[in-house]
Amino acid sequence: MVPEGRGPQPEGVVDVSEKPNDTNEDGAAGTPVGRRTFLRRVSGVGAAISAAMVGIPVLRAFASPTLVHKTSDTWIKVADDIALLDVGVPVRVNFVQTLQDAWVETRALNGVWLYTDDGEKFKAYNGHCTHLGCSYVYDKDRKDFFCPCHHGQFDVKTGAVLAGPPPRPLDELPVEIRDSAVYVQYADYRLGVPEKIEA
Ligand code: FES
Repeated sequence: MVPEGRGPQPEGVVDVSEKPNDTNEDGAAGTPVGRRTFLRRVSGVGAAISAAMVGIPVLRAFASPTLVHKTSDTWIKVADDIALLDVGVPVRVNFVQTLQDAWVETRALNGVWLYTDDGEKFKAYNGHCTHLGCSYVYDKDRKDFFCPCHHGQFDVKTGAVLAGPPPRPLDELPVEIRDSAVYVQYADYRLGVPEKIEA
């Protein structure tokens, strides 16, 4: 028996009295996905993307410094002519270094101490004390490096700790002479630890 008003449809007429697609909750295989299900999925994907965008900087904040890629021109020209540098007396050279960390560009004022015994071979030390990073000075009377923050002392020729709390020698940096100019490959290292680990 055919219910009243539900008789056979004329050819070419679509029966819209069936349950609309947007009531299909599970979107089972072979059936169209309901509008509400579709919207739920779209908003779920949006929420996941938002969470990822918020989460990535947070994760970066906790990531090891070795995972955070910083780039800069690490070879710095610190003297134009080796002939102009005193022998047996260290000289401090300051410079501004530009660092590119993802989208952030920063500039840092850094410095090195240069020292030569013979005018040919040069040593360069990072200008930060290995204890807590203060700038140290050359003590002309004692002929050593002196850090005023906690009275650390370092040997000029080797960078070795002579006194005070610094946990390791000064951080020595690679040096190259190119056409009589002095270049130093600058790097910073972790402070307050006995090992020389790049920061
Ligand atoms: S920062 Fe140099 S001795 Fe403490």
